[in-house]
Amino acid sequence: MIFFGDNYDMGMEISRRGFMCAGLATAAGVAISGPSAEAAGGIKILRDGRVEVELSKFKVLAKIGGALVVGNVKDVPTALVRTGKNSYQGLDLRCTHQQVTSKLVSGTFKCPAHGSEFTKTGAVKIGPAQTGLNKINTEVVGKTVILG
Ligand code: FES
Repeated sequence: MIFFGDNYDMGMEISRRGFMCAGLATAAGVAISGPSAEAAGGIKILRDGRVEVELSKFKVLAKIGGALVVGNVKDVPTALVRTGKNSYQGLDLRCTHQQVTSKLVSGTFKCPAHGSEFTKTGAVKIGPAQTGLNKINTEVVGKTVILG
């Protein structure tokens, strides 16, 4: 009985630890690139429906190639990618195959439906999508980017 109890407790401890790690990883991922970017501040919906991103609030955008999942811009799931020293591009995350929202995973946008992958600039990397992600109007205004 004691042996069983020890194993059971150890199993529970590992499970708890695994759960905590998964929770922290998820929270970190969301804070950097997920929907809670809005909750973290630095993203504001303007009166006309466009979205303003305050660049200094998102370290991920500090380097060229950095990408941030902003959330919805005029009902379109959108990411913002830094493409140059002072250039950015908004991307419509709806997969061009069948419109399922792509996720930012390990530096590429991956569609969970049928496996299409897109580069950070939105180009098709792996099908079945035939065309790249659509671009969202993007304007740099001072230390912000306006999307939509
Ligand atoms: S909807 Fe994205 S691969 Fe099919």
